[in-house]
Amino acid sequence: MRALLTRIEQASRLDRVGDRMQRVVQSTLRPQRVRDFLHGVWLGHPLHPAMVQVPVGAWLSAAVVDLLPGQRRAATALVTLGTVSAVPAAVAGWNDWAALSRDQRRVGLVHAGANIVGLTLYAGSSIARLNGRHGLGRTLSYLGLTAAGAGAYLGGHLAYKQGAQVNQSVSELHRMSDGWHPLADLSDLPQRELLTRQVDDVSVILYRHGDEVTVMLERCPHQSGPLGEGEVQQIDGHACVVCPWHGSAFRLNGGEVVHGPSGNDQQTLPTRVVDGVLETRLP
Ligand code: FES
Repeated sequence: MRALLTRIEQASRLDRVGDRMQRVVQSTLRPQRVRDFLHGVWLGHPLHPAMVQVPVGAWLSAAVVDLLPGQRRAATALVTLGTVSAVPAAVAGWNDWAALSRDQRRVGLVHAGANIVGLTLYAGSSIARLNGRHGLGRTLSYLGLTAAGAGAYLGGHLAYKQGAQVNQSVSELHRMSDGWHPLADLSDLPQRELLTRQVDDVSVILYRHGDEVTVMLERCPHQSGPLGEGEVQQIDGHACVVCPWHGSAFRLNGGEVVHGPSGNDQQTLPTRVVDGVLETRLP
């Protein structure tokens, strides 16, 4: 299985289809507001993994209910609920997929392919059941569950092994030691400019606004882009740092994500000033 997954990650033959699909997704899901909604910016958490709980739960429940006598209506309702709810979950998934790296997009493409097969089988199952053909509906459901299960396995690989849409920066905190760390003399910090400093060997950015200084991790939670090389922009009246790699934007007064593709907020660190020296520590 590991060898197969590695082959998919390295399957450059998928890139032609992948690049074309990426253009289609990017031109279809065009308004930034729609993309941000689907990334989960409003939630501060990627939306796709939350949404897939509904079809997965409904389809698994249908698989159990199908084994019980006299539960045809319940099974039909569960299969139909899973089928309908899988559509918006898939749209959110495609939106995330379009901002992944190439090797992640290859696995994502196979993940999507398996899920499309699963969804088609479940749609057929729902139609068969609604037309009274419950035996056929059951068969199509179990085939759909097999395909969707393979898709879910690939989705797990994409998240847990390849780190797709997983917060890439927060593990930096594990490399910081406890206690307060001096960063700079407050009087030396320019107003409204991004600076990069090291805490132990963790890179952080500093942004001074008046006597307040924001300190946040420098690695972008999306795919580790260098926020210290990003631009500061005013977005909705708030100073935000915009990642130079894919444009995720984070408020400099709290770290909330305001534009995707990151669905995660950026981690800020507590600060204090002692004898004119700015210090920070683990949250
Ligand atoms: S690395 Fe992708 S937006 Fe920052």
